[in-house]
Amino acid sequence: MKPDTLLARANDYVDDRSGGVVPPLVTTTTFARDRDYELVGDHVYARYGGPTAEQAESVLCALEGASDAFVFSSGMSAVVVLLETLRSGDHLVAPTVMYHGAQDWFRRLAERRGIGLRFFDASEAGALEREVAAGPTTMLWIESPVNPTWDVIDIEAAASAAHAVGAALVVDSTVAPPVTTRALDLGADIVLHSATKYLNGHSDLTGGALATRSSDARWEEVGEVRKYTGTVLAPFEAWLLLRGLRTLGLRYRRASDNALAIARRMSGHPAVESCLYPGLDGHPGHDVAKRQMTAGFGGMLSLLLADDPQGERCRRVATSLRHFTPATSLGGVESLVEHRATVEGPHSQVPRNLLRFSIGIEDADDLIEDLEAALG
Ligand SMILES: Cc1ncc(COP(=O)(O)O)c(C=O)c1O
Repeated sequence: MKPDTLLARANDYVDDRSGGVVPPLVTTTTFARDRDYELVGDHVYARYGGPTAEQAESVLCALEGASDAFVFSSGMSAVVVLLETLRSGDHLVAPTVMYHGAQDWFRRLAERRGIGLRFFDASEAGALEREVAAGPTTMLWIESPVNPTWDVIDIEAAASAAHAVGAALVVDSTVAPPVTTRALDLGADIVLHSATKYLNGHSDLTGGALATRSSDARWEEVGEVRKYTGTVLAPFEAWLLLRGLRTLGLRYRRASDNALAIARRMSGHPAVESCLYPGLDGHPGHDVAKRQMTAGFGGMLSLLLADDPQGERCRRVATSLRHFTPATSLGGVESLVEHRATVEGPHSQVPRNLLRFSIGIEDADDLIEDLEAALG
């Protein structure tokens, strides 16, 4: 099945008992045993997982071409559980600018658990390879495109660099969902998503997902930690995720079309110093993005505003837009705008004149008109 068919049909779901075409919401916290004290079904206790979460996992697993997938109560719980597999003395390598919540957790682990942490500048050619080779590396963590500067990291090249030194490659592919990038096919060992974003797409659930190429010892440990911590996605959220996933391809392509139209209009705008969008021909990562983002370049773009060193103009623009809500998060059907430097605080590495946009599925003409009015 092609991704859109798989998604629309919820991985060919038909309920065995009722013939229903929509997976049921199973809210039970415990599962009965029969007279021989055998479990009636495959499940024991909801903290370990249940049928609704498993159905969402089966769709994600097929979509990613994975050997297994786990859904989590948030993207960050997927991050934390995956990092539980690192031991004291292991070494993590990651981009300098990336999703700050995950990076904050890396720093905490480095401080408290004796895990080595090194960074590379994703905007600099060869920096990733140099850093991975510069010292021992257990895990290379990347995003592509990188949030919120949208530098494009070549996943195949990152996989070669990681595997050459025996490291695992983790790709946080939240902004490039598997309808456009199948990171495991490109060499990633584990792919991570905040399902709160594109996978669900309606800004009404918090969730996360991991998918793996091989069910190895690290993966088993991930499953164990999720079981003990109870960070599995709850049934209602899993049900909502299944519903959101059905339209992932449509939503993603529409957001990509809108973002490209906006990026083209904003490049060269007198109030804009630079428009950061991998779909633009002149973007330094455009050729790699064309290769590894097969269904469009996504709805995420950033504008560096001209003559705005402290970001005051950014904040004014963000709050004067009519069709963009000033709010954090991304990947929903509605457009959002955010001044990341304000949200991340004084230690942020993000340029202060950067405004990040999550472009939704509205009419692009309305969005462009709104932006031009606010910038004007
Ligand atoms: C790239 C990326 N990864 C992970 C996360 C964490 O996901 P969640 O907010 O669902 O915990 C986010 C959240 O913004 C994100 O943008």
